[in-house]
Amino acid sequence: MKRIAVLASGRGSNFEAIARAVLSGKINAEVAVLIVDRKNIGAIERAEKLGINWVFVDPNGFPSREEYDSRIVAILKYLGVDLVCLAGYKKIVSAPFVDAFPGRIMNIHPTLLPSFPGLKPHEKVLKYGVNVSGATVHFVDKGVDTGPIIVQVAVPVSPDDTPETLSERILRYEHRIYPQAVKWFVDGRIELSGRKVIVKGADYSSLPVVPALEDF
Ligand code: GRF
Repeated sequence: MKRIAVLASGRGSNFEAIARAVLSGKINAEVAVLIVDRKNIGAIERAEKLGINWVFVDPNGFPSREEYDSRIVAILKYLGVDLVCLAGYKKIVSAPFVDAFPGRIMNIHPTLLPSFPGLKPHEKVLKYGVNVSGATVHFVDKGVDTGPIIVQVAVPVSPDDTPETLSERILRYEHRIYPQAVKWFVDGRIELSGRKVIVKGADYSSLPVVPALEDF
């Protein structure tokens, strides 16, 4: 059975969505661990409620990001992790981390990438004035929010939106597209060739989620 790890730094609602999909049997995998880089965060509370092991790796204990990441990679390898899901993880993963899990690290970003990568995405979206935003699940490469795109959802932006209202509208879809992408991976349906991701047998012809949701 495939083993999943989630890395989070905050509230942990995407972690919970993935974990619940696994615990309910919708995703045929195990959540091996939640790794956090901060204490007293919602993600830890959720892990405890769900009975999932969590580990706090204290960034202050390491002289560089590479050394911090190499400790995390060691934990992930020790636990036999097949897929790493970044879910509200605030650190940029270093190149050796990416190389240790080629095509096996996913992230979710709450915009239609490649638009509005990086920090404060909803603020940037509202400032720019686009009428459609969304969310993207992608593989992680060595850039920031630049990796191959697996699935995207388009979500309308209203003239009265604040970053909070927009974030809330998008988050509901995040909780569906992230578990879906994980399920496709676990079921061996994702083909990666260069920047191009193909979900085998998926429906690429309908909005708002492309490819279409099947299980969530
Ligand atoms: C989500 O909006 C995600 O797209 C972004 O950070 C937020 C994390 O939320 N990367 P949560 O911690 O999963 O609730």
